[in-house]
Amino acid sequence: MKVIAIYHNKGGVGKTTTVVNLAAAIRKKGKRVLVIDLDSQANTTFATGLVKFDDEDFDDIKDSNIFHVLSSEEFFPISEVARKSSFTNPEIYVVPSHIDLIKNETDLNALDYSRGILIEKLEEIEDKYDVVLIDTPPSLNLYARIALISADYLIIPSDLKPFANQGLINVKEFVKGINSFKKQLRKAPLEILGVLPSKISTNNKFMQYTLKTRIEKVVERYGIDVFETVIYERDDLAKCSEKVLEIGEMEVADPLSVLDYKPNSLSAQEFESLVKEVFNKIGMVE
Ligand SMILES: Nc1ncnc2c1ncn2[C@@H]1O[C@H](COP(=O)(O)OP(=O)(O)OP(=O)(O)O)[C@@H](O)[C@H]1O
Ligand SMILES: [Mg+2]
Repeated sequence: MKVIAIYHNKGGVGKTTTVVNLAAAIRKKGKRVLVIDLDSQANTTFATGLVKFDDEDFDDIKDSNIFHVLSSEEFFPISEVARKSSFTNPEIYVVPSHIDLIKNETDLNALDYSRGILIEKLEEIEDKYDVVLIDTPPSLNLYARIALISADYLIIPSDLKPFANQGLINVKEFVKGINSFKKQLRKAPLEILGVLPSKISTNNKFMQYTLKTRIEKVVERYGIDVFETVIYERDDLAKCSEKVLEIGEMEVADPLSVLDYKPNSLSAQEFESLVKEVFNKIGMVE
């Protein structure tokens, strides 16, 4: 089982979009996929269709989510908390997040075992999944820390704009700290698979000239590899996760991965190319 965290401390760069669509693309290669949402915004939880109604009375996630996994040594194994999601076909499993994660961060921080517990709970399900993808918050908080401590690999989505690039220094420092901790746990260091160009403009001039320079900058200035795959800014990719069904007067969330929404779209092709590249980098055969 390979555990991959998707992280950047810059917000809105396409982390969640990468997690859900990469998860779908890997699942379609026949691999068993688990997604863990470690961001209190719960965007992955929404984008995988675990929240159907825009109504707090229907909140059944409150009592069983990633917080419970992290705060209990004895109870709430991942196998009990993970839910089946049909935002892609075949289905995948998702450990949901909840807005309560914010107010619980201090409590969790006080627990000595909170940093290592996800590693232990992932070991229990090692035979059940081939790939685990972890979505993270755009910050350097405890949840981001837990995600990176528990992961084998890191993908850093970035729009390659100056602020995102400057944020790469923080990410590198953060990873350094994480790896000191992993060493104490006798775990292999987190391996950065690379920066994934994401939400990239399809403007002709930009694609031909600027993009190349920006990619070179990341490699030269920050010493991090850049994926060959580029995830361009495209309507299909933004729309597929916001799909709704009208049932009578009600709107029910019905998100799909872009590979299910428009299998022949350019976005779907980009994620297929990303899977190939990720598999290559982590030594996984199709
Ligand atoms: N390649 C893309 N093309 C079009 N829209 C995109 C693309 N990537 C992301 N978006 C849109 O941009 C917004 C932010 O994307 P996303 O939620 O994936 O970013 P994030 O890094 O997870 O954000 P946060 O830091 O808040 O968690 C969303 O509305 C999403 O639909
Ligand atoms: Mg997100």
